[in-house]
Amino acid sequence: MRTVKPFLCASKHLAPLRWLSKPRNCSNAARASSGEKNKGVSDSFRRQVASGPRFQDFIKSPPVTLAVNCEHTDEHYLSEDLGLLGDARKVYFETYGCQMNVNDTEIAWAILQKKGYQRTADLKQADVVLLVTCSIREKAEQTIWNRLQQLTAMKKKRLKTNSPVKIGILGCMAERLKTELLEREKLVDVLAGPDAYRDLPRLLAAATAGGQQASNVLLSLEETYADIMPVQHASQGRSAFVSIMRGCDNMCSYCIVPFTRGRERSRPVSSILEEVRMLSEQGVKEVTLLGQNVNSYRDTSEVQFCGSERTKLSRGFSTVYRAKQGGLRFSDLLDLVSRIDPDMRIRFTSPHPKDFPDEVLQLIAERQNICKQIHLPAQSGSNQVLKAMRRGYTREAYLDLVDNIKQIIPDVSLSSDFISGFCGETDDDHQQTLSLIREVGFNVGFLFAYSMRKTHAFHRLQDDVVPQVKQRRLEECISVFREEAERVNAAVVGSTQLVLVEGESKRSAEDLCGRTDGNMKVIFPKEDVAVQASASNTAPIRGGGYVLVKILSAGSQSLRGRALSHSSLISTPTPSCDGYK
Ligand code: 5AD
Ligand code: SF4
Repeated sequence: MRTVKPFLCASKHLAPLRWLSKPRNCSNAARASSGEKNKGVSDSFRRQVASGPRFQDFIKSPPVTLAVNCEHTDEHYLSEDLGLLGDARKVYFETYGCQMNVNDTEIAWAILQKKGYQRTADLKQADVVLLVTCSIREKAEQTIWNRLQQLTAMKKKRLKTNSPVKIGILGCMAERLKTELLEREKLVDVLAGPDAYRDLPRLLAAATAGGQQASNVLLSLEETYADIMPVQHASQGRSAFVSIMRGCDNMCSYCIVPFTRGRERSRPVSSILEEVRMLSEQGVKEVTLLGQNVNSYRDTSEVQFCGSERTKLSRGFSTVYRAKQGGLRFSDLLDLVSRIDPDMRIRFTSPHPKDFPDEVLQLIAERQNICKQIHLPAQSGSNQVLKAMRRGYTREAYLDLVDNIKQIIPDVSLSSDFISGFCGETDDDHQQTLSLIREVGFNVGFLFAYSMRKTHAFHRLQDDVVPQVKQRRLEECISVFREEAERVNAAVVGSTQLVLVEGESKRSAEDLCGRTDGNMKVIFPKEDVAVQASASNTAPIRGGGYVLVKILSAGSQSLRGRALSHSSLISTPTPSCDGYK
């Protein structure tokens, strides 16, 4: 997502600025197309078309804008004096949804900071309010619609006090609901889809200088923001997220992500490695590789790594798209990333069960600093539902994979996602999901009631499970999950775990909190402990350090224990199934 060395030429991937004039205004394009204007305009329009986006750029996202700005030349659509620079205007961000959105916020901020904007954590001080939005479920969108109403009321008030504020919608909701957002919420000034953040300075300039609504929701086949350096890592503490790919080609029938975030593309490996090196130099102790489908990572951008091998799917798994060929795979990336700093923990999320070849599992088992924790979204335990969801596997293939994972990584921690009440789900299907949850023994789960989106399922299937039944099934899944998590967690009581300290516990200033290799939260008293295993001198425990913690009790969501000594990943042997001896 960001690194010092640009691998992609920014201008090549820039999508054109799209202008939306307010209804009473006559747009530039409308004037140009009326024909009678000077020839210069039409010449410049022809030049612009020749150098503009390719046909592919429009495939996923037909332009919904009312008019195209005709003034821009190859790269600079607006001159700097139109206000492209931030002039120390203060931007306030609000982020909704997943970790990808947190990452997107930092990308958008890095882009604006370069143009001279400032960031504020105080809404009242803001000149620009940007919401980074989520569309995955209806509830997520409803939250944002409600927030928009509050913000537009604030905007109206601010107009009277002569301190105007601009409102922008970024991310998935901008992509999905472009027209609705601009027409329903007339006070929204800027829309930028997930691949259009580089255009933000221009969009804000247009909204500020011309008082127009400005939008760019074009999806790209290549944008990975590889060269955009994050701004917030250092202050975020000892844990960082590094984006390795964007978009998704899987087209699960319930999921809006392929439509809002576009086609899957991988960030070049060298830029990922540079970012991880930089984070290691800053003292970051845990990196999570981030993407919609991390384990289908393929970097074909660098010739020296290119091979001819096709992506090997896990046994019993299939895809709706052609398997990728050549390039550097996820196992290669994981290997390279984990070699950078042996004292830095490496995690990844979210993978798809289809891409877990043995070499990835073996690498996780062997490499000390790759956490033995795998998120394995199952979604359902019923073959009938899995087929309707277009997940590309059966219950049996999923369970075989779980067996294989447990065999290669005996001490693995597994987490998963499930959807209750998908189209056509019967009580029997639901029982099969409960039995799968019991059979696997996950220690963390993300469970959702199906929320209809405009996807394949919307067009082809019937959302026929009534809300009360969806809710009841969801609650049953949650309660089975809790029971199982309690059982799985109880197994570590009595063991000693290497814990990366996050800081003070939210519940009590007397306690600290940290995470095990398996990503379980551990709470333990704040006290000085031996500087290393058998030393007699002690030192206080600080966030960002590793400590060995004896686990004394377990619940479904966290463990409790007592710190024994300071430690490090390098000095601690790989844990056996019952932790460190
Ligand atoms: N309804 C409910 N849950 C959904 N997810 C994705 N789309 C939907 C939907 N339409 C869940 C899946 C996915 C997680 C990120 O969100 O479980 O793995
Ligand atoms: Fe959505 Fe499926 Fe892609 Fe995950 S793999 S983002 S659930 S389409």
